[in-house]
Amino acid sequence: MREDNVIANDLGELTPILSPEIVDLHTSVERCHSRKIWNNSYRNNKKSRIPPQNMGKFQETGSRRELTCCKLGALVLIVSQMLMRITSGTPVPAPILPDNCTSEEGCCMPQPYTGKPARDFEGDLALPIRIRRPVHKLNESEIARLERGYKLLRELPDLDPRSLSNQANLHCLYCDNGIYYNNMTWPLEIHNHWLFLPWHRMFLYFHERILAKLLDDDTFALPYWNWDNQSSSEEANILPRIYSTNETSYLRDLNRNKCAQPPNLVHLNSIGGCTDKTADELRIENTQVMYTQIVTGAPTPRLFFGEPYSYGDSGGYGPGTFEDNPHGTVHLWVGDPDAATAFNDMGNFGRSARDPVFYTHHSNIDRIWTIWKTLPGKQRTEPTHADFLDSRFTYYDENADQVIVNLSQIINTPLLRYEYEESPTAWVSRGQKPGHEKNVTACNPLSPSQTNAMIYTTPELAAAGTLDAKPLTFRVTRPERSDVGVEVLEIQGIKVDNTLQSHWGAYLFFPSAELNTSVSCPEFFGTFNFSPHVGQAQVTRDLVWRVGIRQKLIDLGKDDYDDIVVTLVRFGPSIQQLQLGGTQVLYDTSPTTLD
Ligand code: C2O
Repeated sequence: MREDNVIANDLGELTPILSPEIVDLHTSVERCHSRKIWNNSYRNNKKSRIPPQNMGKFQETGSRRELTCCKLGALVLIVSQMLMRITSGTPVPAPILPDNCTSEEGCCMPQPYTGKPARDFEGDLALPIRIRRPVHKLNESEIARLERGYKLLRELPDLDPRSLSNQANLHCLYCDNGIYYNNMTWPLEIHNHWLFLPWHRMFLYFHERILAKLLDDDTFALPYWNWDNQSSSEEANILPRIYSTNETSYLRDLNRNKCAQPPNLVHLNSIGGCTDKTADELRIENTQVMYTQIVTGAPTPRLFFGEPYSYGDSGGYGPGTFEDNPHGTVHLWVGDPDAATAFNDMGNFGRSARDPVFYTHHSNIDRIWTIWKTLPGKQRTEPTHADFLDSRFTYYDENADQVIVNLSQIINTPLLRYEYEESPTAWVSRGQKPGHEKNVTACNPLSPSQTNAMIYTTPELAAAGTLDAKPLTFRVTRPERSDVGVEVLEIQGIKVDNTLQSHWGAYLFFPSAELNTSVSCPEFFGTFNFSPHVGQAQVTRDLVWRVGIRQKLIDLGKDDYDDIVVTLVRFGPSIQQLQLGGTQVLYDTSPTTLD
């Protein structure tokens, strides 16, 4: 077994060996400490092991996070950080497929196809390095090879776990209530938290290897849809033509948004459907969305990857900025708003991987993860917690055999034998020449006295604030400056109805921001984007939204103030009202140095 603080029961499930005292001590120390500085080791979600009838109670307590115990001092802090390792949650064990499946959406995988037991993934260093290229630059023979691959994939029989529809089922299974471990209250979920990026990387890996096998060509590489590239001399930021315009293509999908067809530019801040923004406006907005979500909003692993998730958790507690937007917003932009199930196929967890464009979209997601790691800032690394590194997932390989992958293998990219051809990344410096990022023109210019007056007259967020059609403005006091970690705005206790979409844009020092305010304003500092998750209708949890604010404050020339004024603008007429539990500014010190 992988850890000495974990035992396996007869069912192969992992159970942490914890004494109740340790859990209690840890929990109380953790709550006090997390008020201003996050615990380095990614707070462990003990929510998962609390019986459902007590869930609400715990969450309420957790969101208040009183400081009462902080007087215990440094000794307790050190002890607590040591205990945290002992009281760690448990990484996700590999699901047993198809047995653990309870999907009501018909997503269960076919009965064992080859009948071989699942084996551990090893990687194959003898494979040639595959170069993933931008899809709009593929040459004729690469396009023909891709077409042939998807033709073969679609022609596989329904019982073959490698078929396109079964790959979509596998994706569906890992979200939307598809996989229940024995004796677990909640199903496994791989969205809305830190497992999202690695799970999808490996899903894509096997998709690529399956196509390579069908094509009998180990050099086959998936292309990437380069939607982050706003250059007007390339066709990077439209739905790839080869996936959309040829009616006989195997790359097409019939359930798509009519406004997402070429030559319309991608809308990275989309909530689905159409926009009346011009191409020039979209280029600027798309660049600003990328800069905000990937550069300023996510300088730490916790911000980029999302909230921790351990075995048994009731869904994700919050996605990283990137999963949220543009990952989720591109899904919504491609999905058909008029389909019987709105936003099918791409905008629906259960069906999105039926659309071949899913894989080229995720190829770009995976590529941007590799770029994020190269941006300035010493914290742009993967999480180091064991619950992350030792999570295990079951996939089907190119021979239709089940294979179990340990997450630490997924972030070991040399083992996976692929690389990305480079494309322009002007968004890294906000579309400006490097070094000129800060030459911003505010949409709401304010003198120092106007800024002070605004701070003085803006109230704090009322307890249990509500965000409805009217934008919500509140003041948040910043903690004392610290050289350790990164300054972050947190909104906790967000209550969502899982069956409804929700979306907000957030602005700094801009109380008059409203629906038509452009995200190209430098005051824009992040979005919250929640896609309906119908399979999880019964799951209730409070979400948390976090975003880095320091760079935006510096860009705006507002870093010297002790308070910030935040405005949230809810998007879309049919979108649900949101309850917010509270807000604070704190320092994120992820990843941990303890494990
Ligand atoms: Cu599992 Cu892009 O989603």
